[in-house]
Amino acid sequence: MSASRPDQINLDEIFVLRTKEVSKHFGAVKAVDQLSMSIFREWITCIVGPNGSGKSSLINLLSGMLPLDEGVVVIDGVGLRVLKAHETPDHGITRTFQEVRLFDQITVWDNIMVTLTERRFLPALFQRTSPEHREKARSILQSVGMWEKRDAMAMDLSYGQRKLLEIGRAMAMDVSIYLFDEPFAGLFPQMLERVKAILKDMREQGNTIIFVSHNMDIVRELSDHLFVLDSGTLLAVGEVDEVLGRPHVIDAYLGA
Ligand SMILES: Nc1ncnc2c1ncn2[C@@H]1O[C@H](COP(=O)(O)OP(=O)(O)OP(=O)(O)O)[C@@H](O)[C@H]1O
Ligand SMILES: [Mg+2]
Repeated sequence: MSASRPDQINLDEIFVLRTKEVSKHFGAVKAVDQLSMSIFREWITCIVGPNGSGKSSLINLLSGMLPLDEGVVVIDGVGLRVLKAHETPDHGITRTFQEVRLFDQITVWDNIMVTLTERRFLPALFQRTSPEHREKARSILQSVGMWEKRDAMAMDLSYGQRKLLEIGRAMAMDVSIYLFDEPFAGLFPQMLERVKAILKDMREQGNTIIFVSHNMDIVRELSDHLFVLDSGTLLAVGEVDEVLGRPHVIDAYLGA
């Protein structure tokens, strides 16, 4: 009985990731301003907001790509004032980029292998790969629908295939918190459906997904929880349909 008492609730069991008053300023621009948010474990959380509202900057802070000016990031109960990009996988976090980043000069297969093995480029290419790594690579490429393309050079892929491979590379990090910056941007309908299915599958498997998007239909379909950013601060938080129906959100962001 005592476990249900309010004073015994363990926030870190509910929220896999929290920020406490995190800020990132670029000169006079407050890209992220004293932002506190909590991300539910094993949910899909969506971050929306106008251009320049701080969505990518927030992802950059959570993935250690930008140093925090102020505040704390709490991952699985561990509070961090300094989060380095190369250490985030050890904390269970990986990300993709608004502008896709791949190793263009190697194959789809090797792009996954580089990530799966040493997480460093040259040793991974020259190392023998274990059957376990090959099995894992096959499974990832099948999950993102890129198995047939495994021998193609990354630079020869279409834009949508590059997005899929980038998600595959994130999966190869074998973490449980995935930050996706605009994974749907610029995709044709068939590809949108595929990425939606991948994200739902990842949630099904117990992962936490945070993604940024401007596509409100997809946001409505996928979000378990929604954050609306405006000028680096939180304009609204909550259940997606309820939040997107709030007049001040419609006024400030949707504009129509
Ligand atoms: N490296 C940087 N140097 C200077 N200013 C930056 C830098 N990165 C972002 N900014 C500024 O911070 C603010 C937030 O930018 P950010 O890229 O986080 O927005 P966003 O919500 O991701 O926008 P979009 O929807 O266009 O991707 C903007 O005013 C932007 O110009
Ligand atoms: Mg952005």
